[in-house]
Amino acid sequence: MISIEKLSKIYTSKEGTVIGVNDVSLDIKQGEIFGVVGYSGAGKSTLIRCMNILERPTSGKVMMDGIDLMSLSSKELRKARQSIGMIFQGFHLAMSKTVVENVSFALKAAGVGRVERKKRAEKLLDLVGLSDKANQFPAQLSGGQKQRVSIARALANNPKVLLCDEATSALDPHTTQSILKLLKKINSELGLTIVLITHEMEVVKEICDRCAVMEEGRVVEEGNTYDIFAAPKNDLTKRFIQTVIDFTIPEVLFDKSEGTIVHLKFTGETAGEAIVSDLLQHHKVRGNILHGKVDYIQNQALGTFVMELTGEAKEVRGALNSLRSTLGDVEVLKNARSIDQSMARAE
Ligand SMILES: Nc1ncnc2c1ncn2[C@@H]1O[C@H](COP(=O)(O)OP(=O)(O)OP(=O)(O)O)[C@@H](O)[C@H]1O
Ligand SMILES: [Mg+2]
Repeated sequence: MISIEKLSKIYTSKEGTVIGVNDVSLDIKQGEIFGVVGYSGAGKSTLIRCMNILERPTSGKVMMDGIDLMSLSSKELRKARQSIGMIFQGFHLAMSKTVVENVSFALKAAGVGRVERKKRAEKLLDLVGLSDKANQFPAQLSGGQKQRVSIARALANNPKVLLCDEATSALDPHTTQSILKLLKKINSELGLTIVLITHEMEVVKEICDRCAVMEEGRVVEEGNTYDIFAAPKNDLTKRFIQTVIDFTIPEVLFDKSEGTIVHLKFTGETAGEAIVSDLLQHHKVRGNILHGKVDYIQNQALGTFVMELTGEAKEVRGALNSLRSTLGDVEVLKNARSIDQSMARAE
């Protein structure tokens, strides 16, 4: 659907040059919700603005349904942009126009007649749940309602893609959830492809099928959202995930513990409880769960357990080995003192 090839954007001014996006290649598939996450200044807005040539890339290509957007004349580009809707953190509504006028204005610009405009604007307001606010002004609406108006406006010309630049960043968590639900509904009911940029990994976890992590203009990791959450490779990705799946154990518990503390991850079908109870049956170790949580990402379970294992060093090592053979990756957060000593002796 959208194919970005080796895209770079360098800003040049009297003060010097700034790299906005650095050699990014991404393929966004028809009908998916694709998230781009990164800290402030990572290049997310620059990238998304390059997708509809609001910002002209310095080099590289943006292909939409096989058409090279950079090769279009300005008239052709205006036409192509009708199939690319966009919403922003700050809503960008016309304050002197009513809600329904804000939506129908986008249709007027596309040459749709008055009667048809009204009909379509009303239908869109119904879709976003704002039929009763049609004749109010933006100033009379809450942030969430304003974002609903801007979504209705962005959908006016039946776009194929909706680009969202921090669309929920100005909203409280509850309103964020309701807007994400609306985006999900539009995605599944209208089959609309959505590209969503955010600095909140929670947003990615909620609705993105795939995502990319950006740092200093580059994409440092990308993949299926579940896979990224289950096995992040890049340190920055890990930090983002920790904001959602936090298993930090209080220092005092850590210091007081005499045992070996391990972090276990259960993905997909693996039943965490069964593995843990099996382990305690087969090894002479005691297990104390310090943290346990199951998150659902794209309807798949991802369990995080932090466990303290106590017992003889040999038994604990045996337990760890059998955990590793069933789970693969088992991170030891702290070795028991007895194990440290036995390892030192072995050396
Ligand atoms: N118009 C511009 N002129 C010069 N430099 C720019 C311009 N727009 C962005 N930049 C620079 O490009 C880099 C990427 O900025 P960008 O706005 O894309 O980041 P972002 O990830 O969207 O950040 P935020 O989360 O704060 O919105 C930054 O270093 C920024 O200063
Ligand atoms: Mg931005």
